[in-house]
Amino acid sequence: MSGAPAVTSAAYDADVAEIYDLLYAGRGKNFAAEADAVTRVVRDRRPQARSVLDVACGTGEHLRRLAAAFPEVAGLELSPAMCTVAEAKLPSGVVHAGDMRSFALGRRFDAVCILTGTIGYARDLDELCVTVRTMASHLVPGGVLVIDPWWSPDTFLDGHVAHDMVRDDTRTVVRVSHSTRHGPATRHEAHYVVADGDGIRHFSHVQMLTLFTRGDYLDALRSAGCTAEHLTDAGGLPGRGLFAGVLR
Ligand SMILES: C[S@@+](CC[C@H](N)C(=O)[O-])C[C@H]1O[C@@H](n2cnc3c(N)ncnc32)[C@H](O)[C@@H]1O
Repeated sequence: MSGAPAVTSAAYDADVAEIYDLLYAGRGKNFAAEADAVTRVVRDRRPQARSVLDVACGTGEHLRRLAAAFPEVAGLELSPAMCTVAEAKLPSGVVHAGDMRSFALGRRFDAVCILTGTIGYARDLDELCVTVRTMASHLVPGGVLVIDPWWSPDTFLDGHVAHDMVRDDTRTVVRVSHSTRHGPATRHEAHYVVADGDGIRHFSHVQMLTLFTRGDYLDALRSAGCTAEHLTDAGGLPGRGLFAGVLR
């Protein structure tokens, strides 16, 4: 490993796409429970919902489970490598290439969701509002927007160090990360070591995410023409909850 890692807002290249599911499985992330929570939030507000768009869908782990509850699922993803992994899992679904801040698919859905804190890639309040408005513009009237938020200024742990070590039949993957606060922004530096039959590879990424308050999310939903609720017991990580909006 040499020099400082590249700073990018989308550090989900082929190296990361290849190990993403293994890492999250090792961490115990419960994609099924999270997809169930999204389904409940949507069905409680729009029982007849048939179509759902997962924005920044990553490798499609939520989408493939949402497909059991909704006949029509689609994803949107910035990283071509993540798109490729997701598409392979979704024979009946579509994964669109696009940016959460500016996509225009030319159609509407009964529900749109954005999960695992990805909304935090919005760099400031303007981008938060634009992203929420862009997602709401893909809802039918009465459609439901579900946001699994990033940490807020009062829940983020400055200086947090995390680690994972996971294995499958052919690989061992180690990831360590260090997260720091810089005003409303958070900086996440992650280093990876992947060992397999071909040898050992190192790579690293830095990402910046923004800390928005509960009020910021609620205001962004309202300014996009939606109702706005913070659901603290509907799912999502403890201390974060889920935000839900219904397009008026
Ligand atoms: C933490 S992962 C979450 C993926 C998936 N939603 C999940 O829960 O597993 C963040 C994802 O957001 C994507 N992403 C980052 N910035 C984006 C943007 N501006 N528009 C669309 N996708 C973006 C990344 O490529 C990555 O796949």
